[in-house]
Order: sequence, then structure tokens, then C-alpha cells
Amino acid sequence: MQRIPEADLMDDGAQAKAYAEADFSEPHENFIALFKQQWPGWDVIGRVLDLGCGTADISIRFARAFAGCEIEGVDGADEMLAYGIRAVAAAGLSKRIDLRNVYLPDETLEQPLFDAVISNSLLHHLKEPMTLWQTISFCAKQNTDAGTPVFVMDLMRPDNQAEVLRLVERYVASEPEVLRHDFHHSLYAAYRVDEVRAQLDAAGLHQLTVQAVSDRHLVVAGLL
Ligand SMILES: C[S@@+](CC[C@H](N)C(=O)[O-])C[C@H]1O[C@@H](n2cnc3c(N)ncnc32)[C@H](O)[C@@H]1O
Repeated sequence: MQRIPEADLMDDGAQAKAYAEADFSEPHENFIALFKQQWPGWDVIGRVLDLGCGTADISIRFARAFAGCEIEGVDGADEMLAYGIRAVAAAGLSKRIDLRNVYLPDETLEQPLFDAVISNSLLHHLKEPMTLWQTISFCAKQNTDAGTPVFVMDLMRPDNQAEVLRLVERYVASEPEVLRHDFHHSLYAAYRVDEVRAQLDAAGLHQLTVQAVSDRHLVVAGLL
């Protein structure tokens, strides 16, 4: 099935509200569980960058899972960040999670300052997918003894339209129309495993692996 890009930023008020109010506990807890499965017993300490943090649900879950880290969440949509800032405050994590408006690519992220880099559901939104892999190459600390974890989860484009409709029906049937619309279009905009592998190789990130982890998600992971 041909890829159909979608808008990059989620800066519409109704869209951000629906996203902030949706229950993403299953895929987002799976993000944390898969990270821990990738590096059993690894305690993430130091500065973590969450690229395309949106309403900060992943940032909050990650901060709770790893008490020794501070998170910088970046996103280009103020509408999403406003919900994120409120959620971080409500979780009592304002001292450990800092959110700021950054539209990628951005030169402030071109320094190797981060002890881990995470991202969920950003890749398929970007106008140019190499932006994500180049940003990660720049901002992850490299040549540390243990290595710097990179963990990226995204949707995976189905083979055909029937499968898109099945996934929409299975996972968002009871959600508001705006969320069903977004999920439907995001599935068309998502990449396949072989396409992401080609992106990683083009970026020189041969040490990162990519694999399908559910009927709709893929994960890119590895140490830089
Ligand atoms: C589907 S949301 C994911 C949000 C969050 N990571 C989560 O899992 O809940 C994708 C986010 O990427 C942001 N985004 C898309 N393109 C971007 C860009 N070029 N720079 C910064 N943020 C971007 C959107 O504004 C949106 O908040």
C-alpha cells in the first residue's frame, strides 16, 4: 500500500484535546515495558530527550519508571505542549520534566548532550524522516563506556486498506471522530520495517535494529 503523508504538527485545538483525553495506557505502558526488555536492569540516569513529546504521556511514564533521570520533551505544537505542561504538573514532575517548543530539525539539538533518546509516534509525522535519525545522531552522547540508549516506537503501515479499517475498528472505535480520523491517516503515513531499515542505513545508524512489535507498531532500538 502506497504511503500517504499527513500534516506534521498537531496544532489544532480539538485534535490536541482529543489526544490528551484519550487512553493510551496500553501502547504507552508497552513502550516502557519494551524499553526495559531491551536493556534488562538498566537504570537510566541523567538527561533524556523525548522527541515529539506531544502531551508528555510518554515522558511522564518514563520519568516514573526511571527515578534518576530528567527529561527534556520537545514538540513543535503549542496546543499539545499546553496539555503536556498541565499533565506534568498534575503528576508532580515539573522539577524533572521540562517541555519546550522546538520544531525539528533544530540546531539547539545538534550537540551530544543526552544520556538516552526516546520518541513515540513522531517519525511518521515528519516531512522528512531523516530529520529524526540525524537529530538522534547529533544529540545522543557517543563513545560512552556503556553506550547511549536510543528507543523509538512508531506506527507501521499496513499492507492494504482492509487492514487499516480493521485496526481502526479494533483500537479506536469508541474514540471521538477526530482521533479515529487521525489514527486512520497516521496508518497511511507510517513506514514499513524495510523502509525504516533503509533510513537507518542511509543515516549510518547500522547499530540500531528495527522490528515489528505488535500488529501496528515497530520499534527501533540500540546503543550509540
Ligand atoms: C502522534 S503525536 C505523539 C506525541 C507523543 N510522543 C505521544 O506518544 O503521546 C506526534 C507529535 O509530533 C509532533 N511533531 C510533528 N512534527 C514535528 C516536528 N517537525 N518538530 C517537532 N514536533 C513535531 C506533533 O506536533 C505531535 O505532537
